[in-house]
Amino acid sequence: MKERETRILTPEEGLPEAVRELRMGGLVAFPTETVYGLGAIAADGEAVRKIFAAKGRASDNPLIVHVGGIDMAKSLCVGWDERAQRLAEQFWPGPLSLVLRRNARVHADVSAGMPTVALRMPKHPVALALIRGAGPIAAPSANSSGKPSPTCAQHVYEDLAGKVPIILDGGHCERGLESTVLDIAGPHPTLYRPGGVTLAQLQAIVGDVAVSPGVNQPVLAGNKVSSPGLLHRHYAPVAKVKLWMGDPAAQVRQLQSSWESLKAAGVQPVILWMGAEPVDFGNCRSWQSPQAAREYYGWLRLADQLGATHVLLGGIDETDAALVNRALRSADFQVTRV
Ligand code: TXA
Ligand code: MG
Repeated sequence: MKERETRILTPEEGLPEAVRELRMGGLVAFPTETVYGLGAIAADGEAVRKIFAAKGRASDNPLIVHVGGIDMAKSLCVGWDERAQRLAEQFWPGPLSLVLRRNARVHADVSAGMPTVALRMPKHPVALALIRGAGPIAAPSANSSGKPSPTCAQHVYEDLAGKVPIILDGGHCERGLESTVLDIAGPHPTLYRPGGVTLAQLQAIVGDVAVSPGVNQPVLAGNKVSSPGLLHRHYAPVAKVKLWMGDPAAQVRQLQSSWESLKAAGVQPVILWMGAEPVDFGNCRSWQSPQAAREYYGWLRLADQLGATHVLLGGIDETDAALVNRALRSADFQVTRV
């Protein structure tokens, strides 16, 4: 891929140029309320393929199409039913991606050849202004594949400098974790990824929701899942993540002995503690809810920059299903329950 200079622009100075870039078949990174996205016009196959190249994304992993409202969503899919209508009315704009059968207006490469498309109306004025200017925008998170998602413009720059001409800087993302992904293409709604809209909130609107294999436990080798993202290594720093859950006091004790034995072995652990209990040993970053979720990815990136070999992670708010899911995936599902 040809390298191009990457500029970080404020939305005020960059929006018209960003719209032109998209219309010419280029890429633009932009803020949403969840994480930054790497966008291209969803109807333009060649532009969409640039997204996969820039991220190093597996070609079997479909993208979310960002829309400006319900009418635009309906124009891209088949089978927009009562459930879709009620979910969108309740949660859009916001962190909910709805998987429906796609129609011919969505390029097949957006969906990695699958017959469905994930649709979401973001709750961010810059994202919505881009959609008004350029139409439906296909956009995954704007990180290199496998890395933690970007929650500020600098994170995008670290991963994609030379690969995207414009990054619109909207400051730090409000939520900091990606959207909920819900499949309503068939009769039984299925959750593929927990996010800002909770399972209970979904169930209040559509009744029973199945949770896909791969969300709370690893997919066993050879098994198929309907959302390819569940199979890929995700949300992880280079450092190895060791995760504790359960009784906070017991977690702190185990963190300390793990930290001490790793130090004794001559490697470089850092601690990410999200609980209320004080942790006064080691090289520790400590946050509490709700900042913890918002800062989580930024912290994983920092651990890599510090040259950490291990991240010792604990104290997470276990009622936040999205944070639990990302922590499990960062740790490759290796969790010690105490
Ligand atoms: O909050 C978000 O969702 C952010 C912002 C930029 O909107 N986007 C994002 O996109 O996180 P991405 O590509 O990093 O994650 C999309 C996830 C992937 O795991 C993918 O496999 C799944 O959604 N997905 C997308 N389209 C799908 C489809 N048609 N069927 C099943 N899963 C799908
Ligand atoms: Mg992603």
